[in-house]
Amino acid sequence: MKQSMIKGTGMFVPPNIVTNQDLEEIMDTSDEWIRQRTGIRQRHWITEECGSSDLGYEAAQKALDMAGWTPEDLDFIIFATLSPDIMFPGSGCLMAARLGLNSTPVLDIRQQCTGFLYGLATADAYIKSGLAKKILLVGGEVHSSGLDKSTRGRDVTVIFGDGAAAVCLEGIETDEKVGLLASALHADGHFASSLMTELPASRLVDRFPKELSLDDPRYYPVMDGPAIFKKAVRMLPKVTNEALTTAGITLDQIDLIIPHQANKRINQAFGQFLKVPEDKVFHNIENYGNTTAASIPLALHEAMEQGRIGTSGQIVLFAGLGAGLTWGASIYKFF
Ligand code: UT7
Repeated sequence: MKQSMIKGTGMFVPPNIVTNQDLEEIMDTSDEWIRQRTGIRQRHWITEECGSSDLGYEAAQKALDMAGWTPEDLDFIIFATLSPDIMFPGSGCLMAARLGLNSTPVLDIRQQCTGFLYGLATADAYIKSGLAKKILLVGGEVHSSGLDKSTRGRDVTVIFGDGAAAVCLEGIETDEKVGLLASALHADGHFASSLMTELPASRLVDRFPKELSLDDPRYYPVMDGPAIFKKAVRMLPKVTNEALTTAGITLDQIDLIIPHQANKRINQAFGQFLKVPEDKVFHNIENYGNTTAASIPLALHEAMEQGRIGTSGQIVLFAGLGAGLTWGASIYKFF
């Protein structure tokens, strides 16, 4: 039986750090509000032209190095983003070109905060079906160029950061129960308007409505924060139990929980609901904010670097909820 194993991880954030104090200068907010409500102290925002594919490229190079692979070794690439460089083609194609590839298949996925979880499940299906052996999975976002940086957009703008992270996955033949043990994925488009950027909209006869100014709020992300917060606290434990059942393991066998980094309070409530010790839930939102599709692999990379996870036999659980709505959980056992 082929199992999907993580062979390398990498991350990259643009060097420019934007602190909560920096945001106080441009909108009516405060360091105290942001830290208390979200746990965020700073985020990284681009200062010059740089797409999700460019951030992804840097993260991918690091993951490939760790795996000991060259880009030519890859037989499939998955790129998860809600902020593609341009309307089309997708960031995966742009990144693959930067990696020097000219025929490797690439799939872009638009699953927002659960993009990495959907990407893992897709990579696993490709590996188990024999369609691919060596896959690069990247999550990358450039939020900052599309945020409403006035007080009007403060609830959304203070939480988002730019960044990318990548994982190299390989199909290994083994009878052991290792690698990706389970994925549980869900979506409910009835709540699409709870977190969305509405314009430009292909469904309109005029994609850029002439009667609107480019500062219309519909060109910026809007979020019903409290509604999403409540959904996350309710759905994350549920989908975690679903993944545990599929994997045939119990919560006490999980060594570390790496949730999507959307709000530290969501993840603390998630941990309390599961009744796990506080140090079993990994946080790095304070330094990066919410990097959406990049957030889980970025946290995984840092957790491995810090020695919090990664030893043979250890089990990590990933979980997240975000725009769509989409939500999910995955369980991975290190080999
Ligand atoms: O990754 C994608 C999924 N997204 C999430 O999981 C996000 C989930 N939601 C959240 O994280 C939280 O709802 C937020 C952090 C977005 C907001 O926190 P909250 O505790 O739910 O605050 P709220 O939206 O209920 O707003 C409370 C107050 C309001 O003022 P009034 O009406 O009480 O006077 C807001 O206008 O806080 C105000 N407010 C702010 N004040 C200072 C909203 N944003 C800010 C801000 N700075 N940045």
